[in-house]
Amino acid sequence: VGADPVMLDLADVMVESAVGVMPVPLGVATGVLIDGRTVDVPLAVEEPSVVAALSYAGRLLRAGGGIHTWASDPVMTAQVFVSQAGRRGIEVLESRRDEIASVVDSRLGSLVARGGGFRDLDILALPRTGLLRLHLHVDVRDAMGANVLNTATEALRSHLEEWTGGRVLMCILSNSARRRSAGAEFAVPLTSLRAEGLGRRELAERIVLASDLAQEDADRAVTHNKGIMNGISSLALATGNDTRAVEAAAHAWAARDGLYRGLSQYRLEGEELSGRLEMPLPVATVGGAVSVHPAARLALAVLGHPNATELSRIAVAVGLVQNFAALRALVSEGIQKGHMHHHAARLAFQVGARGAEIQRVVEGLTAAGTYSLDAAGLLLSRERQEHRG
Ligand code: MEV
Repeated sequence: VGADPVMLDLADVMVESAVGVMPVPLGVATGVLIDGRTVDVPLAVEEPSVVAALSYAGRLLRAGGGIHTWASDPVMTAQVFVSQAGRRGIEVLESRRDEIASVVDSRLGSLVARGGGFRDLDILALPRTGLLRLHLHVDVRDAMGANVLNTATEALRSHLEEWTGGRVLMCILSNSARRRSAGAEFAVPLTSLRAEGLGRRELAERIVLASDLAQEDADRAVTHNKGIMNGISSLALATGNDTRAVEAAAHAWAARDGLYRGLSQYRLEGEELSGRLEMPLPVATVGGAVSVHPAARLALAVLGHPNATELSRIAVAVGLVQNFAALRALVSEGIQKGHMHHHAARLAFQVGARGAEIQRVVEGLTAAGTYSLDAAGLLLSRERQEHRG
């Protein structure tokens, strides 16, 4: 794939041995009402229907006042593991709490002035390995936290070894992000729900049943949560965030009590269907690719330049709406219906249709109800003959 030389330079400064860039479509879902503000949501994703589903369901939920969100402070946790710390290790380190806090803060640069910094410390002796585990909880403000925390905890290494007489095995951020969460909920009147062949109440009951199912059956829960992450990961990618970090945190949270469960839940009360999602959401608006990638900067501009906490609130709302869209379709007409148009368009592209030809081949495939490369090829050559004639 040919690429802009600036993008090739960017690729080179982002990773080693870059040979090009991998373009992924960037779409914008429009009209999602979040905390009283209409938000246009940039999504970078290769999967059809994700962008359209968010716009569609977002509009549907406007009837209930849209999505209401909340978030914790952006606190991330770094882990330091110390071996051979001796039986008094915990006591010794507890007594050095203030010194630990000031070493960490001293490495955080301007973060402390901006309201971030060391928040808490807990120490545990791990019974199996005998390692001492320090958890350092730090408010990382608008950063994702990996760089700042890894630097700050590495600065602690020699102090910890001196104080305990032990050896530091490793210092690293924990991707569980349990203290950095965001939540979203909506309540929509049944009168605004609609699906082919189903009454409004029946549709709502089937959505609630689907949500209960995801609490009971782990194999279904994985797919339920994948639907949530369709929205969240696409927004994370569009804004230059670390999608693997966001996903690791989400799936670990889904399994927090030993059984992997759906992250969202729905209820039907009176004449209203409500949905709720709360989960860790470690997203950043500064640092890493977020600060250097032009598409990420554009995506943040489309969102109105949110800070990291605001972005996490948008992300959790997007996850909930995406999930609602998937459940609504699954328990009514099924999801394939919406997918066939995209499938037809890709067949058209694959056989060489370009520009306006794509739509004409799609129309032909849809009218015939036959979705194959052969049929698309035939339609394209007919289209070109007619055009020439
Ligand atoms: C497809 O990418 C996502 C869904 O499978 C989600 C779900 O099943 O809830 C439709």
